[in-house]
Amino acid sequence: MTDDKKVPASGFNRRAFIGGAAGAAAVPLVVRAAGSVEGVRPSSDPSLPVDVTLQVNNANKTLTIDARTTLLDALREHIGLTGSKKGCDHGQCGACTVMVGGRRVLSCLTLALSAQGEAITTIEGLSQGANLHPMQQAFIDQDAFQCGYCTPGQIISGVACVKEGHATNDEDIREYMSGNICRCAAYPNIVAAVKQAAGAMSDEQKG
Ligand code: FES
Ligand code: FES
Repeated sequence: MTDDKKVPASGFNRRAFIGGAAGAAAVPLVVRAAGSVEGVRPSSDPSLPVDVTLQVNNANKTLTIDARTTLLDALREHIGLTGSKKGCDHGQCGACTVMVGGRRVLSCLTLALSAQGEAITTIEGLSQGANLHPMQQAFIDQDAFQCGYCTPGQIISGVACVKEGHATNDEDIREYMSGNICRCAAYPNIVAAVKQAAGAMSDEQKG
């Protein structure tokens, strides 16, 4: 997805998001839902379910859902991928973070319809079989969680943070991971994990 306004991002925009975009960022999604969305069968009655195909972790999932269904609810309630967590359901905690089209988004504020045609990656799609993603391994190595509720969102955001080039120092990691809240306050360990994974991901790319 190329239009940054289509889906609200997690991470580095949290302060701006809370400060001013809570209303504005949601507007494009509402407009898209009310109007036509590419690939969606138009209905004369907006209360009727619509057919949606989502590409989740390299598999197509076709659902018949209410047009107002969020991506988070589609993943958890309709597809059964419960790794992405519902913390606040209001775009403020980051627990629901997934990747859509290579960008991290808050799936609780993203309509499932708007994610059609984009590659969606959830925490369940990060590992390669039994091989954990370097970010998953780093969270274990650095003991970067306590209760673990925020961890799937933290890990997805961490991967994005590295890919965005925002994991070169502790200050940047803290800033660009600031949209992911940890009520257990495992922040120092999370920063260490992202830093460790950044090195491993960089080595993988060189290799
Ligand atoms: Fe989506 Fe909290 S559940 S930001
Ligand atoms: Fe408990 Fe982060 S590990 S909320």
